[in-house]
Amino acid sequence: MSDSGKDSLSDQRTGRPFVPDNVARAIHQRLVSLKSAGIAELPKSTDELKFPGLVLEKPKTQNTAPSIVAERPASKTKYVSPPNVQKAARPAKKNATRQPTPSEIPVAGYAGGALFPPAENYGPGVPVEERATQLEVIQQEVAGCTACPELAATRKQTVFGVGAVHPRLVFLGEAPGADEDRQGEPFVGAAGQLLTKIIEAMKLSREEVYILNTLKCRPPGNRNPLELELRNCCDFSIRQLEILQPEFICCLGSIAAKTLLNTKQSIGRLRGQFYKWRGSRVLATYHPAYLLRSPDAKKHVWNDMKLIMAEMGME
Ligand code: URA
Repeated sequence: MSDSGKDSLSDQRTGRPFVPDNVARAIHQRLVSLKSAGIAELPKSTDELKFPGLVLEKPKTQNTAPSIVAERPASKTKYVSPPNVQKAARPAKKNATRQPTPSEIPVAGYAGGALFPPAENYGPGVPVEERATQLEVIQQEVAGCTACPELAATRKQTVFGVGAVHPRLVFLGEAPGADEDRQGEPFVGAAGQLLTKIIEAMKLSREEVYILNTLKCRPPGNRNPLELELRNCCDFSIRQLEILQPEFICCLGSIAAKTLLNTKQSIGRLRGQFYKWRGSRVLATYHPAYLLRSPDAKKHVWNDMKLIMAEMGME
């Protein structure tokens, strides 16, 4: 609320009025995402439910459902669980085969759970021939999105994602920079050119993979995305991934990895092994922009890419 009491709602961080249209859009996006996760009913009423995205406090209760399952590699490589990545809860013996239902999974924005909430698996899937059309619908929503007033006011255009509609591998970045903002395509600037080289070194092309960002608008001055902005935007990426259902997701940099995997671990700790998000196997590695500043890290990224290639049967 503003001091004058005239505004009915305001963003707690910026103090700017929270436009009702944005609230309606955020609710709509959230409901679509919940529906696709199989959630048909919501609890009656909490402040978070009334104004998703406005409430940033941590939940009072701990989530009990698994947020990420670190995968045991098929190889002899020692399995290491990142300290604050939750392992899947072991079910009681007599209940050994029971999986958590979608309603037991923490949901972004409501209970302080993952921004990209894991569900048991992807939904039923979209036939390949319908994917482009469905992605186009989301792209139009993204283009008209004003949920983050500062980003909407400063962007030249939104940056949705590009690539194959049936990719085995998806690259998830952070947010558009100046070049991407100008061209409307992710990873086309200096970091993007390095990503293209990495993809080509894997004997793939940009057209064979799909590339998207966690945030669809350029943060002014290339600052880090705010939690509220990631929260506002995450449903778009979840819906993209729900349509694409890739076998592999490569998180580029810590914003993508932390947002998708719901962890505070650094890339240095996360990299080198696969995790699970819905039906995808996830590997996190250093962001190409970091490689431009720290070329020594290229060898680690290449080792990570070789892991993906091996699992894709591409060695
Ligand atoms: N960095 C990103 O994370 N994404 C882009 O699209 C460009 C640079």
